[in-house]
Amino acid sequence: MRLTPGPAHGIDLEAVNLFDLDLYSSGDPHRIWDVMRAKAPLHHQVLPDGREFWSVTRYEDVHRVLAGHREFTSERGTVPTHLGTDDAAAGVLMTSTDPPRHTEVRRPLGSRLTARAVRSWEDGIRATVARFLEPALDGEVFDLAERALLLPAMVTGPLLGIPEKDWAELVQLTAMVTAPTDPHFMVGHEAATLAISHHELVTYVREWVKARRASGEEDDSLLHHLMSVRPGGEPLSDEEIALDGYSILLGANVTTPHTVSGTVEALIERPAQYAKAAADPSLVPGLVEEGLRWTSAACNFMRYAVDDVEIAGGTIPAGGAVVAWIGSANRDETLFPAPHTFDITRAGAKRQAAFGFGTHFCIGAPLARMTLRIFFEELLRRFESVELAGEPQHLRSYFIAGMTHLPIVARKRRTP
Ligand code: HEM
Repeated sequence: MRLTPGPAHGIDLEAVNLFDLDLYSSGDPHRIWDVMRAKAPLHHQVLPDGREFWSVTRYEDVHRVLAGHREFTSERGTVPTHLGTDDAAAGVLMTSTDPPRHTEVRRPLGSRLTARAVRSWEDGIRATVARFLEPALDGEVFDLAERALLLPAMVTGPLLGIPEKDWAELVQLTAMVTAPTDPHFMVGHEAATLAISHHELVTYVREWVKARRASGEEDDSLLHHLMSVRPGGEPLSDEEIALDGYSILLGANVTTPHTVSGTVEALIERPAQYAKAAADPSLVPGLVEEGLRWTSAACNFMRYAVDDVEIAGGTIPAGGAVVAWIGSANRDETLFPAPHTFDITRAGAKRQAAFGFGTHFCIGAPLARMTLRIFFEELLRRFESVELAGEPQHLRSYFIAGMTHLPIVARKRRTP
């Protein structure tokens, strides 16, 4: 989707289809969300097949929906591509549980992913980023979006304990889960793409655990850690470990690359901001927060209303699905003045909603923030300028806001 919106134009909210994939691959959803925030902060849509959902677009409502498990449950699934079909992993997969079960499932992983815990990986991640940027040779065309798909696997692969030979396949499978109708990833049709990718990913982690148990091998990886923890005195079952591993693979692989590409695109369009960040590396953490706000790679998450809920001037009936549009919350003018301006020195950028809120707040946020900070430190240090070398191509997904192609040319600094 366009991250810098085009001119505002008349929008008929009655006719808007928020699940129209063309809107995201070639359209301009930000102009629609602007009108929704102003005129219909609670919006209802019925799809041609009869499925229906409500949408909230203001920051405060997105916060309330994502953070409030007593009003809005995660147990029936949280990904809008599954609207209307209850999540098969409900009550087991971390993302599809409510407290108190959620707290038990999340705790063993959380302790390994805090800001303090991930700091010890900084040198390793910097070496990985250097390796990642190596092919961006001086003056040659480099498809950043395509290559960035591999970056999270390069970072989290070793942390999870997944060998390099499997990264490309896992990246492909996670992309299939999140953009099942994008021509780059679709196999046959949407439902088949979702079923195959989900099955293969869970099977991959299950087999990994089985092989590890058989060999008795031990290491410091996250998956191995999950095999040894005993929340509530009981070890996790292989199924639970497989689903946690699946959550991490998905969470990491499908978001960070698009934050990288979208933020680089914003800098290409605004060379003065690139130069400013390059001249003062202390601005990089602010650049990262603004990049997270700007790109909102996880464009939304879904919940179901537990009872009738009054929100945003209307009512969501008990059992109704509600999509909380993070991409819109991050352009809410009441929190972010001049929201469609990309400004690496924006005050209050840290309140961005890209990682969600409350109990399900992204468990990988410290790792994502550190990876992005290192990525931009290394990019700005190495390259004097980055330019566009072709048309960017956007992901065909209403769930993940991203790019499939971003051809760029980077020019190396003469004096490092
Ligand atoms: C820029 C990068 C990232 C963005 C924008 C992002 C976004 C999000 C958001 C919005 C949620 C909340 C979901 C909800 O409310 O239902 C979430 C949860 C989650 N994220 Fe991330 N994420 C990123 C990176 C990562 C990384 C690097 C990992 C893995 C290390 C990860 C793993 C997860 C997991 C496992 C959850 C589920 C947490 C729970 O249900 O308690 N994410 N992420």
